[in-house]
This record gives sequence, structure tokens and C-alpha cells, in this order.
Amino acid sequence: MINVLQQLASEHHRFSIKDSFSMQPNRVADYSLVAAGLFLDYSQQNISPQVMKSLNDWARQCDLTGKMQAMFGGEKINNTEGRAVLHSVLRAPSDVQQAVLGGELARQVGDTQQRMAELVGQLHNGDLVGFDGRAFTDVIAVGIGGSYYGPKVCAQALKPYTNSQLKVHYLANVDGEGVEEKLDALNPATTLMVVISKTFVTQETLLNANAVKSWLVEGGCDEQNLSKHLMAVSSHVENAIKFGVNSDRILPMWDWVGGRFSLWSAVGFPLACAIGIDNYNELKAGAYEMDHHFMNALLEQNMPVIMGLLGIWNRSFMNYPSLAVLPYSHALRDFPGYLQQVDMESNGKSVGLNGETITLATAPIVFGQEGTNSQHAFMQMMHQGQDKIPCEFIVPLTTHSTLKEHHKVLVANCFAQSEALMNGKSLAQVKTELAAKGLSEQEIEQLAPHKVMPGNSPSLTITMDKITPKVVGSLLALYEHKIFVQGAMWGLNSFDQWGVELGKELSSAILTAMDGEDDTKLSPATSSQLARFMQANQG
Ligand code: F6P
Repeated sequence: MINVLQQLASEHHRFSIKDSFSMQPNRVADYSLVAAGLFLDYSQQNISPQVMKSLNDWARQCDLTGKMQAMFGGEKINNTEGRAVLHSVLRAPSDVQQAVLGGELARQVGDTQQRMAELVGQLHNGDLVGFDGRAFTDVIAVGIGGSYYGPKVCAQALKPYTNSQLKVHYLANVDGEGVEEKLDALNPATTLMVVISKTFVTQETLLNANAVKSWLVEGGCDEQNLSKHLMAVSSHVENAIKFGVNSDRILPMWDWVGGRFSLWSAVGFPLACAIGIDNYNELKAGAYEMDHHFMNALLEQNMPVIMGLLGIWNRSFMNYPSLAVLPYSHALRDFPGYLQQVDMESNGKSVGLNGETITLATAPIVFGQEGTNSQHAFMQMMHQGQDKIPCEFIVPLTTHSTLKEHHKVLVANCFAQSEALMNGKSLAQVKTELAAKGLSEQEIEQLAPHKVMPGNSPSLTITMDKITPKVVGSLLALYEHKIFVQGAMWGLNSFDQWGVELGKELSSAILTAMDGEDDTKLSPATSSQLARFMQANQG
């Protein structure tokens, strides 16, 4: 099947997306669908019925459905770590949890969810107090990567659903300036720190957590009272206890919840603090609705499968190196950053499940920014650059804002971009326009080539009625499953991340060198940079 798709791709330069609408009068209806509150229109992709059929045939050949069942059924599909991949069961109803996890684990999950709800309720009611007896007004969540992006992005998206009494802040990066900026705005007496780390050994998180601890002590919290200000979420409960967190303030997670998919576990605690447990449960319900669709819909009518296959077509067969994700929504402005981890940490791999080299191109470079800002930044390159960059537009049809005119302008710009990417502008069109403006023959000849836009760039558009907890849940689950589909088709393990380890090891070696140890193992370039650092920080 790969050969068939390669052959189709080699002939595809003749394919015109624009013209395909007249060849397929029902193209919009054929290439659009609704699932879990989301509407996907992929009619502006560079696909023909033959391409779609071949992609679906290949999916069947790869036993995609069997691989989905293996994931949902709890098989250890993360083969390099010997782990199951069951984050989705955390958003499923309790009978499904029972069936998949069995009695004891399902009970642990239920207890954790209940404890999380209790703690959120206590914080909202002002029942949890700090060292001087005052109720907490602020929660600072310390964590990085998957222990940060999901809650942060959803909290941002769901601002209209936020509880204004309790403010939630996030500390991820290991930059003292960022730490100070954040802590300067907070009062230690009324701040609760939640350390979120699956492993509880992540360097950045522990350094930041210790900095917050010191800030609490300097702010008047004596050692005996420190634990009142601490909470943790981790699968290594013993490490959290060693850090000083009381065991009843530690929410566990399990090794079958991957970091970048962990929002659905107690990692979602800061989000639940921000939007309340009911809204958080709505988010999970939305994600489960997408899970249900993914598990049950035919491949041809299955939103995550369709998006996964389109992405593979563009990346592995059309050889487009990147993917732009463009939310026309202030609420979803950080969604592309979140997606970078979910997509690139999952599928940015070049060996298959058994260590064999994968010959097809895998994960695209994912980037993006909220529209219309993106139009004033990088969209020029999409319209006239040398690479075709497939785009995924995400736009809510209605807004929470009272500025309705703004929303009209926002949506008009979004629709205009996909139209422009597809239509482009031919030389003849440009010349006619310039002539109509009264430019001379010579001026037209000079200017016209610069205004030509080749068009025929593929895009898809996801719309929803409004940004709600449920819709955000289903959007996240849609992308999680899309990425699973792609990893399954490429035959790689989407659930490990060995590539991040070397940088961690070397940073430890460099830190040792900074502390005066021998740096002979470092390259001349790094040694020289290190010497400059040491000189700049003398005394
Ligand atoms: O970036 C590597 C990584 O291991 C991610 O997969 C993970 O989300 C992040 O670090 C944080 O890990 P932890 O939750 O264990 O601190």
C-alpha cells in the first residue's frame, strides 16, 4: 500500500484543490463531519477519493483498529518501558474503569478523583489555611512538560469558567528571573504550592519547588507549618513524602499515564482549582465523548483517524516538513505550544517498535500562533515561501466576549486564510488587477511576479459553537488520538521519549564542571562557552 500511496503522491503535483470542488460537487459534505461537539471540514486538503481510499486501505492493512483496541484494552503498547497506555480510562465512566483496570486499580482511581474533588472544594471554601491561619488565595503549580502544559492551556482556554476567589499560577521553566517575577506577586502566607512531577526527580521542577519552599520560610512559615503549604501529584509518592509533603496531600498517578497525556489524572488538579471540579469533569466528559467516537466510528467517518491519515499523507508522502496549528481564538493561544509536546515528543522518532529504521518521514515540525497575530508574523511564508505548509485552523463560531464585531473580523480573517492558501493568485490575475489600478506596462512587469501566490496549499478547519470545558476536552482528545493513529501507522512507540535523556545527562555533567570539576569530557566548543560563563560569573 505504501507503494500505491507513493505513486499517487508522485502524480499529485497535477492535483488542484480548488478545481477538485467542481469535480466533486459534494466535496464539502463528503469531506466534513461532526464528532463530540467539533466540526471538521477537510475539503480544502489536497486529497482525492483515491488518496483517501488508499490511506484507509493502508490503515486496515496496518490493523489500526486492532492497535486501538490494544491501547484501550490495556496492553503494554509502550514496549520500551513495558507500560500500558491508559490515560483515556481516567476520563471514562466508572464501569469502564472497572472493566479495564480491575477492582483494585479502579478503586484507587476513584479514591484519587474523590480526594481531588475534596481538596478543590476545601480550597474554594477557604477551609485550607496556611501558617498564620488565613485561607489560601493562591495556588502555585510547579511542574514542567506534561506536568504543566495541559492544565495551563486548558485554564487559559476556560477563563470564563474560572473561580475568581482562588488564583492559580504556574511555574515551569528553570529561570530565576521567572521564579522571582512570579513569587514577587504572591503572599507566602496565603499561597499553596502543588508540586507536579510524575517521577519527582525532574531537575527543573525540584529546583523551582525548593525555591518556593525557601520563599515560604523566608516569608514567615516555620518548618513545622511548611507542610500546610505543600501538596504534590506524583507516581513516586515516597519522593514527595521525602520532599516534605504530607501523605494525605499527595495525589497519586500511575505509570500507565504518560506525562504528556496526564491532564486527565490528578495532574489536572491546578486546572480543577481554577475552573472548579464540575467544569473539570465536563472537560473529561468531552474527552470521553471523543474517545467513544474514536473507538466506535468507522475509519472513514472517524475524526482522529481522518486527521491522522491526512497528516501522514502530507508528511510521509507529499513530504511537507511542517504543520501549522492556527487557533483563531485568544482562549486557545497556547494550544500550539501544548501540541508541540504531545506531537513531537510522541512521534519525533526514527526507529520502529523493534528498533528498525523507519523509512517514511514521521512527525512534522509543529508550530503555530493565534490568529490574526500569525498573519502578521509567519503567514507570508505560507503564501509565497518555498515549502508547502499544511495548516489546521481552529475557530469557535461564537464568542464569550461582548465585542461581537471583533469576533466577526476574527472569523472572517480565519476563513480568508484558508481561501487564500487554496486559491492563490495567478500571474494573469495579478496583471489584470495592476492594470486596473492604472500601472504602466513596465511597472506591471516589475511588480507582478512579487504578487503571485501559488496557492494549492492544504488546510483543514475545525469549528465549535463556543469554547466550553466539554469542547476543550474533546479537542485535546482529538489531537491525542490523531497522534496515536500516526504513531501506529508509522509503527513507532508514541509513548516513550528517550531522546530527551542525553540533554539531561549532559546538563548534569556541565553543572559538575561549573562547580569546579574537570570538564575534559566536553567538546572544545562547550568548554569554551563554559569558560566564558565562568568568567562572567566570577566572584
Ligand atoms: O520532557 C521530558 C519529560 O519526561 C516529559 O515527558 C514529562 O512530561 C516532563 O519531562 C516532566 O516529567 P515529570 O512529570 O516526571 O517531572
